[in-house]
Amino acid sequence: MEKLEVDLADRSYPIYIGQDLLASADNLLPKLKGRQVLVVTNETVAPLYLDTLLETLKGYDVDSIILPDGEVYKTLDTLNLIYTHLLEKTHSRTTTLIALGGGVIGDITGYAAASYQRGVDFIQIPTTLLAQVDSSVGGKTGVNHPLGKNMIGAFHQPRCVIADASTLNTLPERELSAGIAEVIKYGLIRDAEFFNWLELNIDKLLARDAEALAYAIKRSCELKAEVVAADEKEGGLRAILNLGHTFGHAIEASMGYGVWLHGEAVAAGMVMAVDMSVRMGMLGEEVLVRTKALLKKSKLPLFAPETMTLQQFLSVMAVDKKNIDKQIRLVLLQGLGDALITSNFTDEQLTRTIESSIALGC
Ligand code: NAD
Ligand code: GLY
Repeated sequence: MEKLEVDLADRSYPIYIGQDLLASADNLLPKLKGRQVLVVTNETVAPLYLDTLLETLKGYDVDSIILPDGEVYKTLDTLNLIYTHLLEKTHSRTTTLIALGGGVIGDITGYAAASYQRGVDFIQIPTTLLAQVDSSVGGKTGVNHPLGKNMIGAFHQPRCVIADASTLNTLPERELSAGIAEVIKYGLIRDAEFFNWLELNIDKLLARDAEALAYAIKRSCELKAEVVAADEKEGGLRAILNLGHTFGHAIEASMGYGVWLHGEAVAAGMVMAVDMSVRMGMLGEEVLVRTKALLKKSKLPLFAPETMTLQQFLSVMAVDKKNIDKQIRLVLLQGLGDALITSNFTDEQLTRTIESSIALGC
């Protein structure tokens, strides 16, 4: 088992990465404040892993809520089901919420914990690759609004993250690829050597080779923890974790939540961000060629849906959380492993980037 630390003074917490961690009480039980626990999961993950977790929690006052599955349920209505459950079961402020599932469950549960009785503890047990390498770490929690992705939320750090890599064996292939998109993101924004490693090891990751997956999860979490520790609430640096997301969120919201997976939308969005960096003369064309080749091998989309319009992109991008005084800011690359956040581009450069992605779209 690997143990990393997210260094945030009195809100610091460990990330445990290993096999069969769900069945182990050693990391989990010491993080529970009181006796009450609510496990939040969904109808897909519950039959696979809930019993194992409940067995690990034996002796505690535990109940669980099983939510419907899907990005389309990442809403205030679903959140309300959790509040109602907590109140009906008289959960006190010393309760701990445990998120057992992918990023959707992690984000909703985290926000329920951030807001229930003005804030209670929560623990992340991510079961998708995307959640293990990204969403479970860093304390961003929230739900979607029909007009914008993750628009209602809060920063609320978990007490620990337990990434049991053996859960990835049941993950559908399309979801594995979606997680790989976020792994590739770390190479692009912060670690050229990791990007080289991914190019050499992508077949192993797709084949779920345990050693390769363990390394990819560990390196991704190290890079994310480093960025979050430097800028917890996204005053500056943390925005680089959003490479491709400004375009990607527009795809997710415009197509209808869940039609494109988050990681798929981020993949097409990263190609747009890299393409725009090349158009602006900040980046060599070879980075674009390598990015597209790696994403393609990972079975991810390279371009926006052909049915989307420029206007759809611009209207969702207009409410992006990185914008300042209504000005769109984008994460772009000035080298492989070297990201920057900027609003220093022309309308024409942005328009051309979006239009050319749609024109090549699938
Ligand atoms: P998801 O939570 O929808 O999970 C993907 C699918 O896999 C679901 O159908 C789920 O039920 C299923 N599943 C989960 N674990 C499984 C397992 N072990 N075996 C079989 N099936 C399993 O999607 P995701 O990709 O994990 O997360 C995407 C969400 O994360 C988006 O809402 C995105 O906005 C959010 N996100 C948040 C952050 C953050 O920092 N908070 C970062 C990145 C993404
Ligand atoms: N996934 C973006 C962030 O955590 O900041």
